[in-house]
Amino acid sequence: MPFVNEKTYQKYVQEGREEEFHSQVEDGLRKVREEAGSDYPILINDRELKTSSKIVVRSPVDTEFVLGTFQKDDGLLMRNAIKVARDAFNEWKDSDWRDRVELTVKAAYELRRMKYELAGIITYENGKNRYESVAEVDETIDYFNYYAQVLEENRGYVKEMEGRIVKGENGVSVMRPYGVWVIISPFNFPLAITATMTLGALITGNTVVIKPSSDTPLSAFKLATILRRVGFPQDAVNYVTAPGEVVSKVLEDSLEVAGFAFTGSREVGHSLLKSFVSKKPRPAVLELGGKNATVITSKADLKKAVEGAFRGAFGFGGQKCSATSRIFVEASVYQEFLTRFKAKVESTVIGDPRVRTTFLGPLINKKAIEKYRRYVDQAVSEGGRILTGGRVKEEEKTYLVEPTVVIDLPYTSSLWRTELFVPIVLIKEVQNLKEALRLVNDVDYGLTAGIFSSDREEIKYFFNNVEAGVVYANRESGSTTGAMPGVQPFGGWKDSGWTGRNAGGPYYLLSFLREQARTTYE
Ligand code: ALA
Repeated sequence: MPFVNEKTYQKYVQEGREEEFHSQVEDGLRKVREEAGSDYPILINDRELKTSSKIVVRSPVDTEFVLGTFQKDDGLLMRNAIKVARDAFNEWKDSDWRDRVELTVKAAYELRRMKYELAGIITYENGKNRYESVAEVDETIDYFNYYAQVLEENRGYVKEMEGRIVKGENGVSVMRPYGVWVIISPFNFPLAITATMTLGALITGNTVVIKPSSDTPLSAFKLATILRRVGFPQDAVNYVTAPGEVVSKVLEDSLEVAGFAFTGSREVGHSLLKSFVSKKPRPAVLELGGKNATVITSKADLKKAVEGAFRGAFGFGGQKCSATSRIFVEASVYQEFLTRFKAKVESTVIGDPRVRTTFLGPLINKKAIEKYRRYVDQAVSEGGRILTGGRVKEEEKTYLVEPTVVIDLPYTSSLWRTELFVPIVLIKEVQNLKEALRLVNDVDYGLTAGIFSSDREEIKYFFNNVEAGVVYANRESGSTTGAMPGVQPFGGWKDSGWTGRNAGGPYYLLSFLREQARTTYE
């Protein structure tokens, strides 16, 4: 069956069944509340393990609400999980790729069955609004169906070679898995990003130890249990919760780990990679940060540009590596854009993401609030002007802030080059597209970028010269954000990435494989 994206909310809207969508979301949220507070174990093969010290996970939506407690491994269990996964690899590496495809499709069904519960978990875990949470589950389902299709299309990456040097010589190129992969996933897409990396490794015949963000370990726990339930071997899918420093140490000295996949900040990613390869060269898949820009030319449809830039900058509070964090606007439309953008930002509904009208929920934790304050202060002290926003909403038990627009910030400010990961966007007037492009590329990152223009030549020039892995023109739904599997393969150039094979794209699975040339003679 050809791959089709899930697109849940859009379908309900098209069919005029929005109320049904909302009532299922409410059911999902209720289920999460009913199940809250459990003590979730580490999963190694068929064992459920507990440690004496715990990670208590509170919801940023209501910090008195404890989603659950999780184990705090000091490294011992992770090393044990790696050994188990190493042994499991002996068998899993030779499993038939068709069986792996079948299990993947089964998992997609199971994810769909649990869609609203999973969306509810995401909302409670990281504060995403209901539309974004359901879209994240959709994205996860898409990864499963899409990678199943890619493996199928490539017939498990086994390819007869056509050349012959001597008679009776038969060559076959076979892509083979590496071994155990440690999967280190972030808080902002606790299900979808954990899924793309985990499945990327598993469907290609590797085994995994999943280490989720300590802010959001429940989504990953559910993912691991779904994978096991549908039939992926238990010893191939291990799940360990531990502080970041522990994982870094284990990665460095555990030579049994074949590779690691990480999504998170550039600083952490680079440091993990450095220690990982310090004792021997090994593969890694890194999806790191961004300092993504949107360009608005004088030929832009300003209505679309305002909507797209707003969603790109403030969707999930800018806590996306793809978030629009710089906007460059051509002089002739600059004032008009500012006026409209300010009005749009000031109409943002900020609050409890369980409420259907909320656009912007809380930031992930107290540290993010402190960071937000620090960046706002820095912008002002360095000569920037707050066009709108800049304040923390002093509400107890949650972490709400205003979406913030900074203008007139001198280009010497380090904020132009730093990934902020909070809802702050910087806007600058430019004379022309050429100048805008020079600024867009004037950062170490190269993840996403967007342009608003009705001129095909401008768009072509932008695409040909922008240094980024994912580029959009006139994307009203979010300017630089919201890539979906099978539609926009997602990954970064420059300091934003590592393998050059984007998630949700046709080449992603190759990151988890190495080629073996097999030749037999008759
Ligand atoms: N894949 C996510 C996006 O494109 C990060 O926004």
